[in-house]
Amino acid sequence: MSLIPELNSDAHVLICGASRGIGLALCTALLARDDVGQVWAVARKAGTSAELATLAQRYGPRLRRVDCDARDEQSLETLVSETLEGCDHLNLVISTLGILHQDGAKPEKGLAQLTLASLQASFATNTFAPILLLKHLMPLLRKEPSTFAALSARVGSIGDNRLGGWYSYRASKAALNQLLHTASIELKRLNRASTVLAIHPGTTDTELSRPFQGNVPDGQLFEPGFSAERILEVVGAHGPSDSGTFWAWDGQPIVW
Ligand SMILES: NC(=O)c1ccc[n+]([C@@H]2O[C@H](COP(=O)([O-])OP(=O)(O)OC[C@H]3O[C@@H](n4cnc5c(N)ncnc54)[C@H](OP(=O)(O)O)[C@@H]3O)[C@@H](O)[C@H]2O)c1
Repeated sequence: MSLIPELNSDAHVLICGASRGIGLALCTALLARDDVGQVWAVARKAGTSAELATLAQRYGPRLRRVDCDARDEQSLETLVSETLEGCDHLNLVISTLGILHQDGAKPEKGLAQLTLASLQASFATNTFAPILLLKHLMPLLRKEPSTFAALSARVGSIGDNRLGGWYSYRASKAALNQLLHTASIELKRLNRASTVLAIHPGTTDTELSRPFQGNVPDGQLFEPGFSAERILEVVGAHGPSDSGTFWAWDGQPIVW
């Protein structure tokens, strides 16, 4: 088990995008740790996820499932003012929010395929939702060490872009990185022990990557459980002095 300095046996952790894929694997990994008291599992359909229901049977009240659409500010307000009422501090928040080919987003091969609808859908979930989540959770991140990490993607790196394509996804993740970096500066003024990280989880076998797995070289398609452990390693290895930076699953920095 990797050491995560901001956690302790009473720690509250919130995963947004928890009902499947990497978010579900993070919930599973965190519930198995003895330095996590409470896991808040947030997704649009957290309440009907069979996998989260199985975890709830096993871990009882340590897991709280919350339906919330993070693209909707009213829904985020309710999350903080009603659902999380009584929780005064989140030690760790991980946003796994992201779409590539779902909910109107399109992985464009060229400019001819680019549409306003795809750009808007990608930005709504990949960019706007995670930063609005951070905005609404701010009051719960002002005390003690706390980390807000969002899953970005290496393809959001401008310096690393040699292949082109995937306009909406790339741009939405690049914009997410800028928003996270900007927020890291503000959060540091409010809480010197805060950390904001952008993390690339590696290509992982989930619904998001499924149509594109044919091109992945042998050994480079990860199980969600493996990615979750690597993400927690990256979180544990990076504290306030690294706030506002971008890391890959293997602990290597990624250029903006
Ligand atoms: N998989 C990869 O190869 C890969 C590679 C690089 C980066 N990433 C990034 O890693 C993250 C996780 O990806 P994944 O592969 O685990 O995706 P996934 O399997 O499609 O899961 C996405 C999760 O987000 C939730 N979600 C989607 N929209 C939401 C919203 N508006 N409000 C609340 N929850 C919402 C979904 O649950 P509901 O539908 O129940 O709401 C689901 O739990 C994404 O940011 C992705 O860009 C993935």
